[in-house]
Amino acid sequence: RVPTVGIDIGGTKVMAGVVDADGNILEKLRAETPDKSKSPKVVEDTITELVLDLSDRHDVHAVGIGAAGWIDADLNRVLFAPHLSWRNEPLRDRLAERLSVPVLVDNDANAAAWAEWRFGAGKGEDHLVMITLGTGIGGAILEEGRVKRGKFGVAGEFGHMQVVPGGHRCPCGNRGCWEQYSSGNALVREARELAAADSPVAFGVLEHVKGDISAITGPMITELAREGDAMCVELLQDIGQWLGVGIANLAAALDPSCFVIGGGVSAADDLLIGPARDAFRRQLTGRGYRPEARIARAQLGPEAGMVGAADLSRLVARRFRRAK
Ligand code: BGC
Ligand code: NA
Ligand code: ZN
Repeated sequence: RVPTVGIDIGGTKVMAGVVDADGNILEKLRAETPDKSKSPKVVEDTITELVLDLSDRHDVHAVGIGAAGWIDADLNRVLFAPHLSWRNEPLRDRLAERLSVPVLVDNDANAAAWAEWRFGAGKGEDHLVMITLGTGIGGAILEEGRVKRGKFGVAGEFGHMQVVPGGHRCPCGNRGCWEQYSSGNALVREARELAAADSPVAFGVLEHVKGDISAITGPMITELAREGDAMCVELLQDIGQWLGVGIANLAAALDPSCFVIGGGVSAADDLLIGPARDAFRRQLTGRGYRPEARIARAQLGPEAGMVGAADLSRLVARRFRRAK
């Protein structure tokens, strides 16, 4: 029942923490994600530094990485990452060389789903779908306590389903992806656009950043929305509506009992989930004639990925000890 380290690498932040066997966070550190233009090695340096720092104060037995990318079926290579510089990068092997403990690599949303199923809002659900709204949209399918990975490891990439033909460009190479309409990035893009156009509704935000449009962030929009700023409330409604449309489509395809909504944007809570539930009900195929999945906010909040990665690494640590 020893503590392990979980690391969540998103498009903007790296979160690292020591987590015990019950999912409690004993210590947490944060860093900025190195810029996408930097080599993959720089991200690996950041991970290594965080693990070594935590090892100073904790007896670390394994490290789990939840990475914002497409992980191969062997849980080793990051095949592709729209928001990071990894391209066919053998991340697990690289880190295992540098850290002298067993390392597990999984997709960030898969790790978050695992944590919510073990300790959070999806406890005991046998058909759970996780959606994380951060820089992009992460997705995971967890059935009977197993993450569904598909043949090549990359199932659950819901963020890149096309929802708007010819829509906004996406760093995955396509246009109109769901994550271009329902994510932290989408929220900030829309807010900055309104501010740049000097829209009368942008008055509150512009005042808040003293005219510096580039200073507008996602958490800021949520905070202002909570204080009643009309533009920020509306933007979260838009994001929430797109969220509802997307999960109605996912219900048609996967028919889960429960959707858990996590990631940084989920901190907006009812301002986001309310509109999502409304849109979901309006868009659900055969509505009125089928059971409706529950839509729950992630209980572990933005820390779900970190906690899940730490917990998953326990399995590898056990295998490693047995093999020794
Ligand atoms: C990536 C996913 C990732 C998600 C959330 C998406 O753009 O394709 O692999 O899980 O962002 O970070
Ligand atoms: Na996933
Ligand atoms: Zn895309």
